[in-house]
Amino acid sequence: MQTAIETQNLSKTFKSGFLLKETQALSDLNLTVASGGIFGFLGPNGAGKTTTIKLLTGLIRATSGEGKILGKPIQDVSVRTRLGFLPERPYFYEYLTGLEFLHFCGELHGMNKTDRIQKIESLLELVQMKGLETRQLRRYSKGMLQRIGLAQALINDPEIVILDEPMSGLDPVGRKEVRDIMLLLKEMGKTVFFSTHILSDAELICDQVAILIQGKLKNQGKLETLLNPKVTSIDVCLQNVTEQQIGALDFVSTPVKVYEHTLLLSLENEGKLSRLMDWVHQESGKIVSITPRKETLEDMFMEEFNAVKA
Ligand SMILES: Nc1ncnc2c1ncn2[C@@H]1O[C@H](COP(=O)(O)OP(=O)(O)OP(=O)(O)O)[C@@H](O)[C@H]1O
Ligand SMILES: [Mg+2]
Repeated sequence: MQTAIETQNLSKTFKSGFLLKETQALSDLNLTVASGGIFGFLGPNGAGKTTTIKLLTGLIRATSGEGKILGKPIQDVSVRTRLGFLPERPYFYEYLTGLEFLHFCGELHGMNKTDRIQKIESLLELVQMKGLETRQLRRYSKGMLQRIGLAQALINDPEIVILDEPMSGLDPVGRKEVRDIMLLLKEMGKTVFFSTHILSDAELICDQVAILIQGKLKNQGKLETLLNPKVTSIDVCLQNVTEQQIGALDFVSTPVKVYEHTLLLSLENEGKLSRLMDWVHQESGKIVSITPRKETLEDMFMEEFNAVKA
C-alpha cells in the first residue's frame, strides 16, 4: 500500500500580538493517509485542520516534526506539482471570467494553450459549469465559486487533492454535488483529503477519517471500525395505548414522549423489544415503527469532545 500523506509529530505553535502570545495549533500529529480513496479530516472549529493543511501544502512552516507527501518531504517544491489544493477561503480575482481564471491557473502550472483548452473543457463538464464559464467570478454564486475552485484544484491532474472545507456554506444540493465530484475523483484513482466539521458529509463518502480536537489527533481509522456497529438503542412508536399503561411496565425505564396520538419510547435492547411487542399485541395496540439506533460519527465526535473538555 502506497502512502499519500504521512506526518510524524508535526506541530505548529503560532506567536501573535505584541506580547507574542503562543497558540499551540497542532501538537505531535501522526497521520497516515493511504493512496486512493477519500480521507476525511474532522474536527470542530479551531481544531487545527487548516493549520495542518497549510503545513502540508507548504504555506506555513512547522515548528517541529515532519511530513511527507508521496514519500517526499513537504518542503520539497517538486511534490507540489502532484498536488491540487482548494483553500478554505480562496481569493478569486473577481473580474476574471471562470474561463480566464482556469487558464490563468493552468498557465501557473506551465501548461501550454492546447493542453489548457482540452483540460478546462473536461473540468467544466466534471464540475457542471459548462455554459457558465464566460461569466465573471463576481457574478457566481457561492456554490459556483466552490465548483470553479474545485476545477482549479484539478487543472494539473494531481494525484492528491487537498480540500479545506469544500462543502462549507453550500446548501444540501451543493453539498451533494461536491460529494459526487469527490467520489468521481476517487473513481479516477486519486487521493482526496478533505477537512470538514459537517459530519454527515464525511459519513457518506469517507473511506477513512481522522478526528482532530484542540490540535491533537484523537482517532484515525476506517469509519466502520471506529464506529460501534452495535445497536445502542431501539426507538419504538406506538398507538392505541396510553402513557400510563406504558409507565406501569417494569421493563421500560426511559421516559415516553407523546405526540398527539403517538407514543415514542426508547429501549436498551432487543430482549425488551420482544417483551414490549408481546404486550402491545395483548393490549391490541399498534406498532407504528421500530428504529434501531447505531452509534453515529456525531456521537463519537461528541464523546471525544467531552473527554477532552473533562
Ligand atoms: N496565523 C495565526 N496566528 C495565530 N493563531 C492562529 C493562526 N492561524 C490559526 N491560529 C490558531 O490556531 C488554532 C487552529 O486554527 P485552524 O484555523 O487550524 O483551525 P480549524 O480546525 O481549521 O478551524 P475551522 O473549522 O474554524 O476552520 C486556532 O486556535 C486559531 O486561532
Ligand atoms: Mg479551517
